[in-house]
Amino acid sequence: MTGPKLPGWEFSPQQWDAVTTVDQHVLVSAGAGTGKTRTVVGRILHLLGVELTPPDGAPKANIGSARCSLQDIAAITFTNAAAADLKKKLRDALLLAGRREEAYELDLSRIGTIHSFCLDLLREFALQSGTNPRDELVDEANSIHSLHASSTFMLIPIASAS
Ligand SMILES: Nc1ncnc2c1ncn2[C@@H]1O[C@H](COP(=O)(O)OP(=O)(O)OP(=O)(O)O)[C@@H](O)[C@H]1O
Ligand SMILES: [Mg+2]
Repeated sequence: MTGPKLPGWEFSPQQWDAVTTVDQHVLVSAGAGTGKTRTVVGRILHLLGVELTPPDGAPKANIGSARCSLQDIAAITFTNAAAADLKKKLRDALLLAGRREEAYELDLSRIGTIHSFCLDLLREFALQSGTNPRDELVDEANSIHSLHASSTFMLIPIASAS
């Protein structure tokens, strides 16, 4: 008897559908703690050609020529916490699958927040977008501080001119 391909990475039939349907868009709408992140991790593993075990009765999945490399995949979250959770689970699963190189390349991949994804694009196309490639992300506290500093900088000359 053989065990699961990736122990601890089992999927429900609904998750398996979302993991293995790669020839069309998939929208997963599910409540808190119901396995959305696991489904996204499974989908990325599947796209990378990692062999996964189907739930009982579901057909085996074969990615065939649709197999991607990590550089072909963008996985975007809104919060830093969700990005960190996604990356950690994906790294753990890749290491378990013996895919060490991809696990170590994760920090260079386009898996992260919408903010860091956009910043990466602006840096890559800085010449075309006319932006400074050294621009950095600011957190909320720093953005309030910068707004205050720049509005003071603008308002003092206006006030002294009037
Ligand atoms: N098919 C499954 N079999 C066993 N455990 C599962 C399965 N799917 C999810 N889990 C477990 O359920 C927990 C929640 O899963 P996950 O983090 O993927 O959910 P989520 O919907 O992304 O949660 P959140 O709303 O907090 O982001 C995790 O411990 C995960 O390992
Ligand atoms: Mg989640």
